[in-house]
Amino acid sequence: MRFIVIYLCLVVALVLSTLCKGEEDYVSKDSSTLPKADLHETTLHYHYESEAKLFGPAEEIFHISADVDVEYIGDGFGNYLDNNASSFLMFMRNVFVQVIKGNGTTSQSEAPLSADDLYDQPTWFVQLGNGTIAEARFTKKDLGNTNVMNFKRSILSVLQTNLVRDKENVIETDVMGKHNSRYMSTELQFGEIEIKKHFSSKDIYVEDNTDLDTDEVDIETDEVQRVSGGILTSVAGHVQVFDKPEDQDESISPEEGGNIDLGAYLTSNVTFTLTLRKHVKRSVEGVQRMEAAVSARFHKRSLVGQYDKVSGVYQRWTILRRKFDEEDKLSQAVTNFMKDPTDPSKLHEVNEILSLENELGMPHNNATSAAANKPALVKQLIQATKEMVANCSTNWEICKEILDLYITAGGKEAEKTLSSLVQYHPLSADQKQELVQKLSFIAKPTNHILTTVKTLWNTLSSQGDPSQSHVILTLGSLASKETTSSGFRSELVDLLRRHLQSGDKNNNTEQISDALEAIGNFGDNRLTPVVLAVAKKEGQTEEIEIGCIHALRRNFHVESVQQWLVDLLTRPTSSCELREAAVVTIKGELAYRKVLDTKNKAWPNSGRTEVDRILLNALLMADVRYECVFSDIREYLQLKGVPFGNLIETYEMVNSTRTKRGVNHVSCSSWGTYGSRYSELLSSSQFSSDNNKYPENKHCLSHISYGPSKANIYIKSGVFAGRNRRRRYCKVYGKSIAKLKVFSKRFTLATAIAYRYKTSKTRTRVYLKVYGKTVVNVDTSGSVNRNYPVYKPSPKSINVFSFFIYVAKISVTITLAPRVDFRIKAGFCDRSYDPCSHCLTMTLKASARISGGGSANLLALARGGIDIGVTLNYLVEGEGKLYPGLCFSFYHGYDPMKINVEAWYQLRTKFKIKSWRFWKWRWTWGKRRTWSPSSLSWKLGSSKRKRIARTGSC
Ligand SMILES: *[C@@H]1O[C@H](CO)[C@@H](O)[C@H](O)[C@H]1NC(C)=O
Ligand SMILES: *[C@@H]1O[C@H](CO)[C@@H](O)[C@H](O)[C@H]1NC(C)=O
Ligand SMILES: *[C@@H]1O[C@H](CO)[C@@H](O)[C@H](O)[C@H]1NC(C)=O
Ligand SMILES: *[C@@H]1O[C@H](CO)[C@@H](O)[C@H](O)[C@H]1NC(C)=O
Ligand SMILES: *[C@@H]1O[C@H](CO)[C@@H](O)[C@H](O)[C@H]1NC(C)=O
Repeated sequence: MRFIVIYLCLVVALVLSTLCKGEEDYVSKDSSTLPKADLHETTLHYHYESEAKLFGPAEEIFHISADVDVEYIGDGFGNYLDNNASSFLMFMRNVFVQVIKGNGTTSQSEAPLSADDLYDQPTWFVQLGNGTIAEARFTKKDLGNTNVMNFKRSILSVLQTNLVRDKENVIETDVMGKHNSRYMSTELQFGEIEIKKHFSSKDIYVEDNTDLDTDEVDIETDEVQRVSGGILTSVAGHVQVFDKPEDQDESISPEEGGNIDLGAYLTSNVTFTLTLRKHVKRSVEGVQRMEAAVSARFHKRSLVGQYDKVSGVYQRWTILRRKFDEEDKLSQAVTNFMKDPTDPSKLHEVNEILSLENELGMPHNNATSAAANKPALVKQLIQATKEMVANCSTNWEICKEILDLYITAGGKEAEKTLSSLVQYHPLSADQKQELVQKLSFIAKPTNHILTTVKTLWNTLSSQGDPSQSHVILTLGSLASKETTSSGFRSELVDLLRRHLQSGDKNNNTEQISDALEAIGNFGDNRLTPVVLAVAKKEGQTEEIEIGCIHALRRNFHVESVQQWLVDLLTRPTSSCELREAAVVTIKGELAYRKVLDTKNKAWPNSGRTEVDRILLNALLMADVRYECVFSDIREYLQLKGVPFGNLIETYEMVNSTRTKRGVNHVSCSSWGTYGSRYSELLSSSQFSSDNNKYPENKHCLSHISYGPSKANIYIKSGVFAGRNRRRRYCKVYGKSIAKLKVFSKRFTLATAIAYRYKTSKTRTRVYLKVYGKTVVNVDTSGSVNRNYPVYKPSPKSINVFSFFIYVAKISVTITLAPRVDFRIKAGFCDRSYDPCSHCLTMTLKASARISGGGSANLLALARGGIDIGVTLNYLVEGEGKLYPGLCFSFYHGYDPMKINVEAWYQLRTKFKIKSWRFWKWRWTWGKRRTWSPSSLSWKLGSSKRKRIARTGSC
């Protein structure tokens, strides 16, 4: 009989949940939630424990424990009166952090440390009847300690639950942000409920004010909660951070280093439990602390973990700068470098510190107080190098490396030296030109240097000096920076407008082209109308239209520019090259902003416009007019995060000739066959037109990458040479693109184009864009034979991601220091005066140093992390000759490369200081310790420049 009753209850329970259950069952079927447990005058004593295993193979393990007392203080208030809400005060005691070594032991000296004085403040929170934590309030003392508040937020996140039966998907806010959570509840015996909760990084809303960027990793969290009698009795959960697999798109297996996965160091695994130990009548002591809390003032703050924006840069700086505290450490580094100038790595750290100090504002005397109490390192640098810089022209090769440091450091004093070198020092014309070209990358120029460069331009242009082009390009780049005064900007707007208009009036293509590239570097929207006027001129040449696309790249979001782009893309007379130039520039601009100008949210960085629709449609319809640009459109949409799932297949079908992915490739036979992969180098339509014009031709292509899988350099290059004996036409052409991938960030470091052709006239063209700025723009009837300056844009800190894993904020910030070496030799071949004896050698070497790493801060008591250092470099050289035969060679080579990983941790300790009348405890960060094995490093061997491909015979 009993059996039947139970059976009945089960059946009925499915229909009408309350029937067979006693009073204990608080979960109701409709949206009404748990009746409030009677918590009057009671204290819930919880114990919290967590084990955080951070940074993957580094296995940094932190053990955390704390007692958490929750005191019921009454109903909800204010907005929460109707929600069956309760207010609580949370107190924490016995907050400990302990470091666990890989073999499971903890050493005596790292005995757990109590942080009760950091956690002596109550926190007020409101929990609605449905389990949602609606609000948190902190006392003033806590507001001053972000890490303490963040840990408290993580405990509140654990206390949050969902008591509404059958409501499985909930939007909630906790320390990790606002996200969807999936809940599932099951009834256990005696009215106990088990609630399972899950969410992943995909469920987290990225809002403008959160920093959560999970392009790099996937996060999965799971919790099992138990609720009994309306009270949360236990929670067990874990958060796992996974390395995201490589994007298949451009995945190329590097020949060396590809098996080292830096992404593995970004993984973490955190487990935690919160257990109700006692649920008792409030003790005398409890009553006392409640009474003490009555007089405290509470301030409402978000439930979401707080990030400190500058801290990544600041922390990195404190670590590096300490090494240079010794009196003459800097002079030593400089002296060492001068002894062996072939090893620039001797200055890497100095360079990074200088760039961090520039970011912190130190050389501009406006850094935050914490950083400002040390004099900027640039002061020492100027002191230590004064003599050598005074004789710069006589030892230029070494001196220019030192000047690179000045350029990175910035500030008035450094600029003063640079200015006087440009104005007064007897540098040779070439040295001066090199220096001016390097100035493009001063991060925060002041009026001083701007005025110097402008004065130089006025002088050169009034003399009609043909080398003026580089000066105006530099001027445009410099003035684009935030620090440029509005007065100077206006002057430059006038200057560039006049330059463009007079070029247009005199039909001077070179002048127009220079003005357009400089405008593109500068980006001031006031120049948009005049550029559009030139662009829309009846019968405008394609070359100038492409220049106009470059010129408008910072203002693509402007309505009139959008309309022009739409017209350009859709009008039947546009060639695929022109469409390609537009798409490549838009894509490049987006990639640049995603890494280096993240604050700029204007289209294409956000929003969708008609241009997006047209491009998506072109891909969808496999529109032949866009054939040369499919792969670029696809990359653009991917960068933008436009989902276009099945489209990939459409695209693949169109390009059925596409070769297998994941293979490095060198080919000296068939440009056409690899059309889509190499369309960036020479689109298939351009190729077929050249193929017709210069029917006797040869070409080589290569794409190769180097470095570990999550941080590598990838270079695509192509060379073409052809002639038409009958008409006496000929052309040599080369293009190289160096791309950099650093975790999920990828962008073009340098684009270099050089060609020389002879039809009715002979022209040589050289174009180089580095880090988003045009630095070389040459169009001449003569030959070009130059080593361009080594471009070293200032190292820049890039926040790869930061997010919370409950107990810790994890952030990964790296500093990227790129370098581009570029050489061109384009002109007549040796010992020949045949008008078609064209020879072209183009060398591009791309290098990068990636430093920084990840760190986690745990409850204001411990921090740990990994430091990553990667140096990469890769050189490609293409050589094409039209005389005496027709031939091509491709070379490559690289210097030694290094990868270092070091795991470290630091504990905060207390020390006693004597104050005026009594002893006081003060917190301080203890020694930085490394785990063992303390460091991992890999060396990637070097390879002398050697030929990898050859075709034809000379
Ligand atoms: C664990 O490692 C530490 C340091 O790495 C060492 O001092 C200790 O002896 C090891 N303990 C055991 C049990 O292996
Ligand atoms: C609880 O109620 C609040 C306010 O009505 C709502 O925003 C929240 O989504 C609810 N949570 C659950 C778990 O139903
Ligand atoms: C994370 O830790 C949990 C508990 O220790 C374990 O079950 C799980 O396998 C770990 N996951 C990974 C990826 O190491
Ligand atoms: C320092 O000054 C520059 C421009 O003069 C400004 O952009 C920057 O925000 C300032 N920084 C601080 C910390 O005040
Ligand atoms: C400008 O030059 C181009 C080619 O150099 C020529 O076709 C065009 O007629 C010229 N226009 C004027 C107005 O001189």
